[in-house]
Amino acid sequence: MAYSAKGYGKLIGMEGFGETLLKNHFTLYQGYVTNTNKLLDTLASMLKEGKIGTPEYAELKRRLGFEFNGMRLHEYYFENLGGKEAPNKSGKLGRKLAEDFGSYEDWEKDFKGTGAMRGIGWTILYQDDITGRLINQWINEHETGHLAGGIPVLVMDVFEHAFMVDYGLKRGDYIEAFFKNINWDVAESRLR
Ligand SMILES: [Fe+2]
Repeated sequence: MAYSAKGYGKLIGMEGFGETLLKNHFTLYQGYVTNTNKLLDTLASMLKEGKIGTPEYAELKRRLGFEFNGMRLHEYYFENLGGKEAPNKSGKLGRKLAEDFGSYEDWEKDFKGTGAMRGIGWTILYQDDITGRLINQWINEHETGHLAGGIPVLVMDVFEHAFMVDYGLKRGDYIEAFFKNINWDVAESRLR
């Protein structure tokens, strides 16, 4: 069954995110969906044609990690945007953040600090599915650094395409804008 791109048009008009930037971002996301479908189809054909064991098969398998995660991480990202409320520090997620990081403020400092790291990729607040612990993690590009079995609770895109049109090199200003638009209800609903 093929994946289909979801629509995130309702995010247009979000404070701190220009329409051009968002529309370009949606187009990029759709490209990942298209390529994920293409790769899965091609790999399935190669299996039938007895092409396993070829360098072509190996490279396409590797590529799937990039395209699939590029698709799925954008879905997590767009879905955890569009909120207007401040985080509820006494809610389930707020209390868990304070428990695992010492305070909500320390979690926020660590998440923003992770996002400000040089390089392109993602910052993800993960929940370890075995212990329940919350961990902020950096992902290189789309596929390197994921925590096995980790549940993505809050996902922030820090590729340059996510902010340069509006903020130039000021990634910190983009991260502040991201925080103003987090949909905390969505993030909390991802917690186990
Ligand atoms: Fe992106």
